[in-house]
Amino acid sequence: MPSVTDRYDPLDAQILRDPYPVLAGLRASEPVFWHQGMQSWALTRYADCVRVLRGHDTFARDPRRTGSTVPEPSLSVQTLDPPQQSRIRSLFMTALRAQDLSALEARARRLVLGRLDAWAGAGPFDVMAEVAVPLSVAVVADLLGVEPPPYAEFAEVSDAIMRSMDGGLDPSLVEPGRIARQRLSELVDGWFTASYRPGLLERARQAGPGADPMVRLYVKNTARVMFQGGYSTMAAAVGNAVAVLLARPDVLERMRDAALLATGVDELVRFDGPVQGTTRVAVRACRIGGVEVAAGQKVVPLFAAANRDPDAFCGADRLVLERTPNRHLGYGWGPHACIGTTVAQAGLRALITALNEHPARLVAAGDGVRRRTATMRVYQTLPALLRL
Ligand code: HEM
Repeated sequence: MPSVTDRYDPLDAQILRDPYPVLAGLRASEPVFWHQGMQSWALTRYADCVRVLRGHDTFARDPRRTGSTVPEPSLSVQTLDPPQQSRIRSLFMTALRAQDLSALEARARRLVLGRLDAWAGAGPFDVMAEVAVPLSVAVVADLLGVEPPPYAEFAEVSDAIMRSMDGGLDPSLVEPGRIARQRLSELVDGWFTASYRPGLLERARQAGPGADPMVRLYVKNTARVMFQGGYSTMAAAVGNAVAVLLARPDVLERMRDAALLATGVDELVRFDGPVQGTTRVAVRACRIGGVEVAAGQKVVPLFAAANRDPDAFCGADRLVLERTPNRHLGYGWGPHACIGTTVAQAGLRALITALNEHPARLVAAGDGVRRRTATMRVYQTLPALLRL
């Protein structure tokens, strides 16, 4: 019988196509398993994942709590833990709440309509390059109040960073990721010296990191994480959602209904979300799902598995647009849950509204190709065409 690691190789072609049957098998037979490649305990049950994500006193995000070092450019809301993280997180959350997200959504919808106009009646195009990337760069730049960088150039830098998230599985990805982070930091430094448009960054600056140089560093690094992390997850989510809509035109049609649009964008993220899992480190020995976890060992809550757990979701393998409540883990949970959830929801609503408003109909033009990445489930290319 193959080992558990062989059964769950996140980079295997079949799993890239459809990870859910293998994850369901593991959840039923061995819900917490040691993954040799990731050198981590992998968790597949919703309840176990939530326990880890909530339990920051036992499960650290900040590697310094278990004696590792973290380079200064990586210290952000994402790597710090409460209580240090809380001040930075609330500064960004407060600045975000002050933004007019309906206006942002309207601008995003107009942008998508423009992209659709450009391709309507023309030949096949790649949804990732022509819709997902421009929409996502525009949404995060609009939110932060910065000039959007050139799409293709930015996508290249961001992809290197996204790939380096799999550095545990393939160490050769770490150095290109470091260089890309450096390039991105230079872009972000420019934002902090240039004058500001109204937006989240201006607000965060007004709220004031104060004179403390470390807090200033965390704020700048968090701006970088919001831009790059927000863009890459958003682009991946757009591709995954469009793939479902191409396969199921009835879903797009039903989302003309405002109530189904509102709940449906969350269900699309639960059903086939971009972030497959995350990592925490146990700061003390503990027991989870019947397994002894030693202090210093890594645990990986697999969001993709938890979001299809039948103990948490009725009809977990079905797309149920009206699902409410929908406490899925596609945006994480607890003190590190996604800061940009409401922005992502606005961007996805803008996409779907524009697809429904446009006179041309989006249809598949061949099979999409998944990128060979483990942490992020994302299309490399997704061909479609717009039929008038
Ligand atoms: C559909 C799109 C998105 C998805 C599926 C998504 C998903 C996630 C997930 C799963 C986490 C938690 C990771 C963990 O626990 O380790 C997270 C964190 C985060 N997300 Fe998102 N995200 C999306 C869009 C965005 C956007 C648009 C922004 C900002 C503009 C953003 C900013 C952040 C930040 C700053 C964090 C770190 C929060 C912290 O550690 O306290 N995300 N996101």
